[in-house]
Amino acid sequence: MLRIGDVHIEHPFVQAALSGHSDLPMRRVARRFGAAYTVNEMALDTSVLHESSWRTRLLNVEADDHPVGGQLMGANPDAFGPAAALLSDAGYDVIDINFGCPVPKAMKRCRGGYLLSQPAEAMEIIRRVLEAVGARRPVTVKMRRGLDDTAASERSFFEIFDGAFDLGVSAITVHGRTVEQKYRGPSDWAFLKKVKRHAGDRVVLGSGDLFSAEDCVRMMRETGVDGVTIARGAIGNPWIFGQCLALIGGHPVRSAPTMAQMREVVAYHVGELVRYHEPKAANKIVGRLMNGYTRYHPRPKAAREAFSKLKSVEDMRAVFDDWYPPDSIDDTTCASRVEIRE
Ligand SMILES: Cc1cc2nc3c(=O)[nH]c(=O)nc-3n(C[C@H](O)[C@H](O)[C@H](O)COP(=O)(O)O)c2cc1C
Repeated sequence: MLRIGDVHIEHPFVQAALSGHSDLPMRRVARRFGAAYTVNEMALDTSVLHESSWRTRLLNVEADDHPVGGQLMGANPDAFGPAAALLSDAGYDVIDINFGCPVPKAMKRCRGGYLLSQPAEAMEIIRRVLEAVGARRPVTVKMRRGLDDTAASERSFFEIFDGAFDLGVSAITVHGRTVEQKYRGPSDWAFLKKVKRHAGDRVVLGSGDLFSAEDCVRMMRETGVDGVTIARGAIGNPWIFGQCLALIGGHPVRSAPTMAQMREVVAYHVGELVRYHEPKAANKIVGRLMNGYTRYHPRPKAAREAFSKLKSVEDMRAVFDDWYPPDSIDDTTCASRVEIRE
């Protein structure tokens, strides 16, 4: 059991926020396989404040999508409070603040990971969000372990970490890479252990290098974190949540889905994609989605190549049956663990 403020989460295996991925369709698939809590892809505070069809979808939280976190990223403290209030009114159960995004565009605009270098600014953002929604919703923060490997960076990390809890946040997710590191090199689990030891009974979720159920359970055991947020390891691989549950429950872990299971899930996910997104967006996303699923196909390279040519969801029809045959015998096992580098 994991608790984020007054939100009770059945178990500690969380679908992480993933820009370009953790939309409602992915969250539904993740939940179907056991994710107890999911976080929406980050939304820019300023975009949340302006009307658009994207915002209409963002603010339409479905009844089967709980508990769900709504994540905000931005640079201007003035925008965070009103944006957080809109997410809260829409029904997001937890409001999460992103201080981790390392992409150059975010850094240049003083958003995401940049704010780890500006503790005063970061604290002001947290304060504004808590003022706006803290009485109604738990507020959480997502951080990397620092801007870089310097001691000053680590000091800023702990200044924000402790300051955020003192202000009243309910949990902090820590990704054990620095912003400078982006995705190069490992996530530093020893740092996560140090953070959890420092945190005591304050709730800490861990992130980084969770590609299998064994990784997830090992992170919890080795670092003591209260929960784990599964990111790249859940792209095209929603089975990971059920595998985690089996593993901690002492049940046998069926490590890989069968071809028939893959076919059914891919079809369901694409169907949800088409229902949720406007056609133009769905056509853009479907290639990315299949790039994820084909990693676990028994012939990953060839399957990825076939689906990489998709220009639209309509094009799926021509290739889907070839790569996920309707008559596949239910014991064709797909790959369980793949090397993932975004
Ligand atoms: C494509 C992609 C998109 C991401 N988008 C977000 C996001 O919107 N918000 C966030 O807090 N983290 C985001 N992350 C970071 C992940 O949640 C996670 O912290 C990171 O990938 C480390 O975990 P992993 O090594 O197990 O993938 C993203 C990561 C990737 C690869």
